[in-house]
Amino acid sequence: MKIKKAVIPAAGLGTRVLPASKAMPKEMIPIVDKPAIQYIVEEAVKSGIEDILVITSRGKAIVEDHFDRSPELEERLLKSGKIEAYNDLRKIAELANITYVRQKETKGLGHAIMCARSFVGDEPFAVLYGDDVILGENPTCRQLCSAYEQYGLGTVGIKEVSKEDIQKYSSMKVEHLKNNLYKISDMIEKPKPEEIMSLFSILGRCVLPSKIFAILENTPTGAGGEIQLTDAMKELAHTEGIIGVDFDGTRYDMGNKLGIMKAAIEVGITHKDIGDGLKEYIKNLAKTL
Ligand code: UTP
Repeated sequence: MKIKKAVIPAAGLGTRVLPASKAMPKEMIPIVDKPAIQYIVEEAVKSGIEDILVITSRGKAIVEDHFDRSPELEERLLKSGKIEAYNDLRKIAELANITYVRQKETKGLGHAIMCARSFVGDEPFAVLYGDDVILGENPTCRQLCSAYEQYGLGTVGIKEVSKEDIQKYSSMKVEHLKNNLYKISDMIEKPKPEEIMSLFSILGRCVLPSKIFAILENTPTGAGGEIQLTDAMKELAHTEGIIGVDFDGTRYDMGNKLGIMKAAIEVGITHKDIGDGLKEYIKNLAKTL
């Protein structure tokens, strides 16, 4: 079954990037000149997604503004002959069919996904975490959709992380299937050192069957006092298994300060307008470090 719908949860408080995220959603923090969430919408579109639901919350209305038309700005760019900028601006508003729903209380990622229930209906759907930008030739969301279509099971994007980092993420019990695909039979959110099952962690993307909503409905609050999506996915892993895709792509965690800086530098040095200048600057700076 072709995956046509995607959900982008973007309602979190972003406490790790304060004060930047006090009045501005962290999902709007730019990598050079484009907000994180635009990269994510573009990935979804390149993956064949037709309808996108963004989960927002109070203070996040500028996300909607970003994907809307902006007639005044468009007119000004046209009048001053800045056709390329005008075309780029128009494209943003035409990227995809995007709708929005508010998560009224920040009760965790699992709770945010519950807000997508009526949008999703009974189809499988992709989830792209609003603060995880993944760049690469083959869109990660498409890699996961292909695995879902092949196995008919929920799929998650996984990567091996360090022993220190895994305690902040999740840990998977995996069995290698073929190439970059694994079968996951168990998982735990924010494991203590003795609970680590492997260094594979879910990072940023998943494709889920709609039965996840019935499971989420009965998922109690977990780590950090939040309703955890991982706890609901664990039940799927126990009952029918989940496919882990060790995806091709570079992930930037826009939910933490170092991730934001790495993204700015790595994308910046390849950027058509500033790449050469930035490289020169970094080389000179490195000599002084
Ligand atoms: P995070 O746990 O990274 O986001 O959730 P957070 O809660 O904003 O982070 P900190 O710890 O306070 O810095 C991953 C994604 O899920 C969304 C976030 O916006 C982010 O894109 N999320 C999280 C929600 O939509 N609702 C929630 O209740 C929690």
